Amino acid sequence: MTLKPKVLRFESLPSTNTELARLASEGAAEGLAVVADEQTAGRGRLQREWSSPKGAGLYFSILLRPKIPTEHWPLITFMAALAVSDALTEATGLQTDIKWPNDLLVNERKICGILAEAIETHPGRAVILGIGINLTQNAFPPELANVATSVSAATGARAERETILAALLSALSRWYALLSEPEKIVAAWCSRSSYADGKLVQVSNGDEVWQGTTRGVERDGALRLGTASGEIRLVRAGDVYSVRSSS
Ligand code: BTN
Repeated sequence: MTLKPKVLRFESLPSTNTELARLASEGAAEGLAVVADEQTAGRGRLQREWSSPKGAGLYFSILLRPKIPTEHWPLITFMAALAVSDALTEATGLQTDIKWPNDLLVNERKICGILAEAIETHPGRAVILGIGINLTQNAFPPELANVATSVSAATGARAERETILAALLSALSRWYALLSEPEKIVAAWCSRSSYADGKLVQVSNGDEVWQGTTRGVERDGALRLGTASGEIRLVRAGDVYSVRSSS
């Protein structure tokens, strides 16, 4: 599968995902990408807001029309996390960790979030892959101050949005070509995530909270959680938090 990105740029949009979904429903081709300087209604996972002040982030969405079995679609966010991880290393020198399912962390703070949304369009089912990378934290709301970081805070240098975007487009094209080989994506993801195996975590899905130790990832991207009673629970949605053991 070859991806040929073509980028449309906007000064301001409610959300790059929403704009691209509109273009996709009009039949836009795979690889069409949208970048905005600011988003006025940026969206995160689990119906959260994604703070998107002007110039403070790379707000990016790309249209995918993957020809892979539906059960492997969760790996699209894994391949996106791998691409962002490569792009940040290439463009800024930063080494990132990946927190299940697809948050990129530097020094345990979030630097990038990924929101993949599947939609039905006339040419078939498509994915709007949205990526938000924090470039500066000048305009972070106070509640994010302790949990988020940015390229400029983590490197101590100016974040060059265009350099990061160029690296992201080529990394996405490389990883997208591997999507038909799920075991390669899962293995690469596990090798770059401190959350993949042996990490004591709490998982919350809104109603329930479980604690356990991570025990790898299934071929469809589900996180394996070993609980105190010795069973393995498969986690397919929710938030994962690292728990420091008291010993
Ligand atoms: C998360 O909750 O971690 C996912 C955040 C995804 C934010 C990006 S910014 C570009 C794209 N447009 C949106 O409205 N959201 C995604």
